[in-house]
Amino acid sequence: MAIESLATVWLNATGTVAMQSEHSGHDTVITGAQVVTPAGTALCDIGIRDGRIATLGTGLQGDRVIDATGLIAMPGGIDSHVHIAQPSGPGIEMADDFASATRAAACGGNTLVMPFVLPDGDQSLRDATNAYLAQAEGQCLTDISCHLIVKSADPVTLGQDLPALIALGLTSFKVFMTYEGMRLNDAEILRVMDVAKEQGALTLVHAENEDAIEFLRDKAERAGDTAPVFHARSRPVPVEREATHRATTLAEVAGVPLMIVHVSNGAALEEIRRAKERGVKVYAETCPQYITLTADDLDRAGFEGAKWVCSPPPRDTDEQAAIWAGLEQGAFDVFSSDHCPFRFADPAGKDAPGARASFRNIPNGIPGVETRLPILFSEGVSKGRITLEAFAALTATNHARIYGLTDKGAIMVGKDADIVLWDPSLTKAICQDDLHHGADYTPWEGFEVTGWPVHTLLRGQTVMQNGAPEGVPLGRHVAREKVSA
Ligand code: URP
Ligand code: ZN
Ligand code: ZN
Repeated sequence: MAIESLATVWLNATGTVAMQSEHSGHDTVITGAQVVTPAGTALCDIGIRDGRIATLGTGLQGDRVIDATGLIAMPGGIDSHVHIAQPSGPGIEMADDFASATRAAACGGNTLVMPFVLPDGDQSLRDATNAYLAQAEGQCLTDISCHLIVKSADPVTLGQDLPALIALGLTSFKVFMTYEGMRLNDAEILRVMDVAKEQGALTLVHAENEDAIEFLRDKAERAGDTAPVFHARSRPVPVEREATHRATTLAEVAGVPLMIVHVSNGAALEEIRRAKERGVKVYAETCPQYITLTADDLDRAGFEGAKWVCSPPPRDTDEQAAIWAGLEQGAFDVFSSDHCPFRFADPAGKDAPGARASFRNIPNGIPGVETRLPILFSEGVSKGRITLEAFAALTATNHARIYGLTDKGAIMVGKDADIVLWDPSLTKAICQDDLHHGADYTPWEGFEVTGWPVHTLLRGQTVMQNGAPEGVPLGRHVAREKVSA
């Protein structure tokens, strides 16, 4: 789209036309980039003042000039599904704290991540949130905004803690239909959804049927099938399809919107399509593992497959194709990492006591916050499957819109200057030695990508340049708008 025609449709955050109003007085000006905006892509300058995008136009002047000739300017990535320093059971430790996770996020082109508050033991949700935010304070290289995890539908959680926390801007929570000790039954999920409706929050659902999984897990163990690959075989597509159907039906009954996270296959996506046809407001998320990995990755020699143990598990190439079709057709709203890092060579990680005796004991989750954007850029944009605008929507703009991050997620006048500059021709193989997370491996070792983020700015300040983190931890916790049914 030409600069002249774009100029007429650029809107500021309040919806009024605001373009090329001032050509000087910027703290920073980014020149020469192809700029991806919700209204299209154009070659123009970005003028930044006081941490916000002040001007989009040509010939802009500023105290600092970043020459981005040949690069693409995108909204900084928002990864709305990451796990950081989350309690993971006795003796088990996540590989990332806030410092390492947000350092990796910034180096992967992100400017905001959304981790989950999980109460430890019988800690209250409110106490858990206070402790978690205190842990993050002063540590983060990107902004953060927390979801809650509701693992108990008790009266204090539903009647006091959730309303108080939602009022403070933590306006989304996840419920689990799997994981013993975390999962809620249907009656409990309905009561939680009712609170979401009353208080203006969004419910996220992990949709896998725990009883069906336990039936298969128990059978596998009794047959001596205990290797990591049996994690994938005991969580087949039907357990996710059924739970997705049930979750969307519960949302229909409760009259609330919902987000189905980490959708891994075509049958679950079909359930989401059907629910939408019935008028249910369902958002769908998928992740890099479901377009690039398969269950065969868990079937490697010895214990190596543990590196790929996550839930839902990666499927097969037919299901990858179904997920790609969904991405191309706009059936997915967001593309997140589900970054959940455990070290491999570590008894506090994948090699937990009992993990080699049964896949049941392998901590679930894989690292991916730094590689999410390059994988989708390379497999999606560089290979011609999705446009630059679809990429920006799937990785930033839709996350901001759905989760109520008003100032984030788009290159528009008035928004925070959260920007990532991409070199679309930089080709490299993903390599653990180049990454910044706390895990000791990447599931994508050797995976070739074309397109890599080379400069990340958080509210106008550089937090990564040429693969290296930069600056002090400026990241803040961002409160969010309420969600309407
Ligand atoms: O295996 C995974 N995905 N672990 C993270 C927790 C979750 O269910 O998202
Ligand atoms: Zn989950
Ligand atoms: Zn997760």
